[in-house]
Amino acid sequence: MTRKICVIGANGQLGSDICHSFEKNGDQIFGLDHVGIEITDINTVKKVLHEINADMVINTAAMHHVGNCEVEPQKAFLVNGIGSRNLALICREIQSPLVHISTDYVFDGKKETPYIETDRPVPLNVYGNTKLSGEYFIESIAEKYFILRVSGIYGKNPCRAKGSNFVQTMLRLAKEKSEIRVVDDEILTPTFTGDIADQIVKLLSGVSEYGLYHVTAEGECSWYEFAAEIFSITGTDVVLNPAEPGEFAGNVMRPKRCVLENKHLKDQNLNIMFHWKEGLRRYLT
Ligand SMILES: NC(=O)c1ccc[n+]([C@@H]2O[C@H](COP(=O)([O-])OP(=O)(O)OC[C@H]3O[C@@H](n4cnc5c(N)ncnc54)[C@H](OP(=O)(O)O)[C@@H]3O)[C@@H](O)[C@H]2O)c1
Repeated sequence: MTRKICVIGANGQLGSDICHSFEKNGDQIFGLDHVGIEITDINTVKKVLHEINADMVINTAAMHHVGNCEVEPQKAFLVNGIGSRNLALICREIQSPLVHISTDYVFDGKKETPYIETDRPVPLNVYGNTKLSGEYFIESIAEKYFILRVSGIYGKNPCRAKGSNFVQTMLRLAKEKSEIRVVDDEILTPTFTGDIADQIVKLLSGVSEYGLYHVTAEGECSWYEFAAEIFSITGTDVVLNPAEPGEFAGNVMRPKRCVLENKHLKDQNLNIMFHWKEGLRRYLT
């Protein structure tokens, strides 16, 4: 049976790939961009979601520029916290499962091994705090939900909040500069949005348990190692060096080592995520 899937943030980096993967799967997509829905306004959310009456609502919308969240904490809480609450309330009304995208930034990055879903979140900044509040609203309101924490995402559509992604930025800088310096002391798992989208289709196509899931590529690297792999795969000839510690330090605290383990997916034999190098190769080719 064809399912009706409503995707919020449909023209975003992750949202556009989610639409594509569900379309490939034969589902009917109702894609909403920011003009189509304002998640901070409960009346709009109610009207739009009741009209569509989808079998499933997937929310990728967020205020996720970390620096902007720090200078506008009320706005960040309104979008990431209250916006999530609004979606949870209305999804409960229409009896639709809510799939919500969250972040590795709910953690402080002090754990030396990968974080699993039962680890206690301790966000370091406004972005992480407000995304965590969104998780808590959904967990306490929605009857049927999947919260999916992703990390370091890049996709074919540029990130709307940042205008670009790390891969595109590195390839642009390689054309403009003779030397590129990249931080080597922040560890993450960069993840291709096309692979996350396919994983979500897989998760929602069986009888998966509702709840919290980590959804990242396998393995880990520093931003410097990620840049090196981008230049290696694309055969880009550029001088790449690790930055000195603190060379690009901003005003916002960020976790130093945010690696997530897809334990809940693996426990259910559902994990189809690739190693980050394979995801990068798939994205670039
Ligand atoms: N980017 C990363 O590295 C990263 C890492 C971890 C987690 N995440 C999470 O991944 C998710 C998707 O990120 P992305 O890079 O795909 O984002 P994106 O490209 O910036 O797209 C976000 C979409 O949400 C829309 N939106 C923003 N505020 C809205 C609101 N108040 N009401 C309705 N729509 C709104 C945006 O519309 P406009 O642009 O027109 O406002 C855009 O369509 C977010 O939840 C983010 O927290 C991202």
